Amino acid sequence: MIIVLNFGGQYCHLICRRIRELGVSAEILPFSASPDEVRRRRPQGIIFSGGPSSVYEQNAPMCDRNMLNLGVPVLGICYGLQLIAKMSKGVVKQKRREYGKNILAVKETGKLLKGLKKKEQVWASHGDSVISLPKEFRILGSTANCKFAAFENAALKLYGVQFHPEVSHTTHGMEILENFAISICGAGKDWNVKNLDRNLIAEIKKEVGSGSVLMATSGGVDSTVASVLFHKAIGDRLFCIFVDHGLIRKNELEDVKGIYGRFRLKHLFFVDASDKFLGRLKGVTDPEKKRDIIGKTFIEVFDAKAREIEDKFPAIKFLGQGTIYPDRIESAQPGGQASKIKSHHNVSLPEKMKLKVIEPLKELYKDEVRVLGKSLGIPNEILYRHPFPGPGLAIRILGEVTPDRIGMVREADYIFIEELKKSKMYGKIWQAFAALVPVRTVGVMGDSRTYDYIIVLRAVTSRDAMTADWARIPDEVLERISNRIISEVKGVNRVFYDISQKPPATIEYE
Ligand code: XMP
Repeated sequence: MIIVLNFGGQYCHLICRRIRELGVSAEILPFSASPDEVRRRRPQGIIFSGGPSSVYEQNAPMCDRNMLNLGVPVLGICYGLQLIAKMSKGVVKQKRREYGKNILAVKETGKLLKGLKKKEQVWASHGDSVISLPKEFRILGSTANCKFAAFENAALKLYGVQFHPEVSHTTHGMEILENFAISICGAGKDWNVKNLDRNLIAEIKKEVGSGSVLMATSGGVDSTVASVLFHKAIGDRLFCIFVDHGLIRKNELEDVKGIYGRFRLKHLFFVDASDKFLGRLKGVTDPEKKRDIIGKTFIEVFDAKAREIEDKFPAIKFLGQGTIYPDRIESAQPGGQASKIKSHHNVSLPEKMKLKVIEPLKELYKDEVRVLGKSLGIPNEILYRHPFPGPGLAIRILGEVTPDRIGMVREADYIFIEELKKSKMYGKIWQAFAALVPVRTVGVMGDSRTYDYIIVLRAVTSRDAMTADWARIPDEVLERISNRIISEVKGVNRVFYDISQKPPATIEYE
């Protein structure tokens, strides 16, 4: 197996995941892990991830120098490369920045770049560069502004790439990771997400013992897969609560009842708290404030219901959560080094509760969760449902959330999704939704002037929500959707289609 040391890079988990895609086991540890901790796991190789800091800053994340002396190969990526250089008496300095696509001129392939051509497209994101290294380090490749873009010190088993082999824009990135994990480290291909269900069920059984688990469920892919896992492991000792915050999609409640009916969940409780949520959101326009209010209110409502249930079933000791990896990285949890993009309320839920948290999916990406769900017997119509954020429609109504606006965005969203399904586009898209821009423009309907709101349609393709591209929906489908929204949704007279990528935009609007 390969250990990935997390120095706070946004793509740290992607490295781990790519290694797993090669069929090799991989695990992430914080940069502060001791060499003994790493040794105990008996890795065949170690990867130092990227990170937002500079190695020469005072509080830059560092690992123990002995990490380079464990006798296993080490690959540094971006910040990781600079760290290896610094720990090996090299010099790192701020240089000309390189962001996005670059061309790597391969000088010699060595073991690391084996199979690559003379010129390779790579994706870089750095402001610092290594400017000198001891001569035992062979330069394998350079970019226009970075001499040490790839190096190898075969005697000390140290390797580095200044660019990101884990992102898909680095055309032969997977080959580099494969060269490292398989050829250089000698790792075997024994990781398979399909076998994960048995292990996860066994782990849940062991941890929960004879106790019971409480779960917040939303009917989304993650919480459904997590609750079915728990149900398989502990049966009727699973208690699920669905909180209706008044910001759910059209027909959502019926859909959720249908999903859980299928799995014969005995203890499923619904709480309608929409008045409380909407009351507290009155007059609030700041995105983070909205997330904060929804998160706190959610905890309060969930906690009150949980206490009621606990009075009847005192064996409840655990809080089950369907948290997946991107929920954590984008909320800046692992390693505490990544910068905060958005607060995800589902991550803060457990802080106030006295229950012990179990998150069986916390290391997985959405597509891995889907493979797992399939092996648990969950039907595709549930597994391939588009993701829906915890704060619901509130973060798709820019500005103040009012009942009128919820009505507009909910109806427009329903039409959008219905038409995507009819045109067989739904399955090709990672996530699609309507958002309301509370800006009014002039239009003409019948013979009268209108002065109404704008609906934006957002549809993206993605593998894991970390990066996303806008979906190419055929014109005639967009036309049908636009016509239907303008004629069926009162208060809307214009429809826009969003063609921004993530990054620099995000998928949701707030
Ligand atoms: P962004 O907008 O950050 O979204 O590009 C990435 C993915 O995360 C979903 N998302 C959330 N999911 N709670 C969730 O459960 C949240 O607070 C939340 N915010 C964003 C988003 O829908 C997309 O799939």
